Amino acid sequence: MNIQNALWLSPMEGVSDLGFRSVCVKRGADLTFTEMIRAEAILRNNKATTDLIDCYLEDVPTGLQLLVSKPDVLKQTLELITKKREEGELRYQNIRCIDLNFGCPSQDVISKGSGPALLKRRARMRELLTVLKQYSPVPCGIKIRLGLNAMEKKNKLYLGIIELVNELRLDWVTVHPKTADQDSMSPIDFQALKEIISIAKIPIIGNGFITDGPSAKKMFDLGCSGVMIARQAVINPWVFEEIRQYLKTGNTPLIKKDHLAALQEYEMIAEKYGTKEKYRQYHQKTFQDHSKGKLGYHSPTKNYP
Ligand SMILES: Cc1cc2nc3c(=O)[nH]c(=O)nc-3n(C[C@H](O)[C@H](O)[C@H](O)COP(=O)(O)O)c2cc1C
Repeated sequence: MNIQNALWLSPMEGVSDLGFRSVCVKRGADLTFTEMIRAEAILRNNKATTDLIDCYLEDVPTGLQLLVSKPDVLKQTLELITKKREEGELRYQNIRCIDLNFGCPSQDVISKGSGPALLKRRARMRELLTVLKQYSPVPCGIKIRLGLNAMEKKNKLYLGIIELVNELRLDWVTVHPKTADQDSMSPIDFQALKEIISIAKIPIIGNGFITDGPSAKKMFDLGCSGVMIARQAVINPWVFEEIRQYLKTGNTPLIKKDHLAALQEYEMIAEKYGTKEKYRQYHQKTFQDHSKGKLGYHSPTKNYP
């Protein structure tokens, strides 16, 4: 998997459906992700969950993000995904890679011992990542925070995770360099990110507050192989093109941004692939607001306020 100067769209619960991912790819994103999908619910064949696996289009490169805490559940899920792909089930056909979520700050997730609660459980992490590497039919990586809280960060358990992924040769690690108990507006820790990059033997994707060329360049200058963008892509899906041009020329290009045309593109795909109404309403409202110059960001989910 080629990860060089990569511009990725983040997984976003309630946001990252096929239509939105397509809008971002057409505006320069190299790779996108589904929102986090609970592996246990895939195994139960829960329809609301399997509907989130919407990797129908080859020209919308998409990684599937899983939330999972048990190695046997992960193994069965990866075997099921492999089988569905072999059987030709359309929604599984264009999964380019698989990512595990160890960053979700939701108390619901953490209290069940999932997501960032796993970072300190080195033996469990080793089991999970060994299964991931062995059974994933496509390249695979993980998305992490620096721990649950300041104490875990101080103990630098994140460096142990990087040693583990170095050893297991995963394809990337995305780092959102803050702890799970920090809110969405807390600043990220560039020092910790630098430390991670200094020992990493696999590509590191930087994430957090990337809004434009200069903020992306700062991540690349630190040594990141790629950047992952969430909230700014909702406000401005052209951010990928802007960053790419900025990295080439040092200037931000003047791009004509037609949010309503982007909404039309979105709608065509949402209609064709039966995207759920709540996603469509969210995107209709955000594209319309942004077309009127209201550039605020409102999260559609309580898990990521
Ligand atoms: C609405 C929303 C939903 C999110 N859902 C997910 C998710 O499903 N999986 C995940 O790993 N991160 C999720 N995140 C976190 C983002 O991927 C990203 O790490 C975070 O927003 C920081 O990036 P940003 O500063 O570019 O927004 C979500 C963030 C937001 C705002």
